[in-house]
Amino acid sequence: MNKAKNFERQITIEQKLELLKLSGIDEVFGKNFIPENSKNLLKKLFEEFQNCQKCKLSKTRNNFVIGEGNSDAEIMFVGEGPGMQEDIQGKPFVGSAGKLLTKMLKAINLERESVYITNVVKCRPPQNRNPEADEISTCIPILYKQIEIIQPKIICALGKVAGNLLLKKDTTLGNMRGKFFQKENYKVFVTYHPSALLYHPQWKKPTWEDLQMLMNEYKKIS
Ligand code: URA
Repeated sequence: MNKAKNFERQITIEQKLELLKLSGIDEVFGKNFIPENSKNLLKKLFEEFQNCQKCKLSKTRNNFVIGEGNSDAEIMFVGEGPGMQEDIQGKPFVGSAGKLLTKMLKAINLERESVYITNVVKCRPPQNRNPEADEISTCIPILYKQIEIIQPKIICALGKVAGNLLLKKDTTLGNMRGKFFQKENYKVFVTYHPSALLYHPQWKKPTWEDLQMLMNEYKKIS
């Protein structure tokens, strides 16, 4: 290898930037350069899709509810789709199920702001019906992009719709609950949807056991 090439390989990026400055280039990235951190990337994702018209849910929604929370969260929670309050406020899990979710997080010492919360579909299905297959398949690239940006270690699917989607299965909640499934770079864990707990309080105890499993795994890997 010639000497010049060898020298170029050995110098650090900072030294390269210094050399560029010495050769008269003051700015490498331009005045308005903002490093692409996960927060910026999530913001750009929102800007790209906030007026999305790709499926019929866009006709009846008030707000596109992309999600909220820590853009570098180690745990992400994924529900089904925004309900009435979420559609009005533009935020996920802020209605009665959301209040219960916040309490569930507190019970395992997680602040809502420290995790990331989103849904399979980002617009409210009318009358809170289940999202339909075409709506899910249209919206799902946004969830996968969020996962790619945030890079969580664990994704907790809330309910059957999110569980089936993240595990690419068509099975019952009972078959998915209370286990960790290793995916590419993260583990998927499935538990009851908080809305279901409002109607079936007898499921709170098994949910509490699930949450403790979740927390034990989180402690191991964080
Ligand atoms: N149910 C969901 O699945 N998501 C919300 O954001 C609220 C209720």
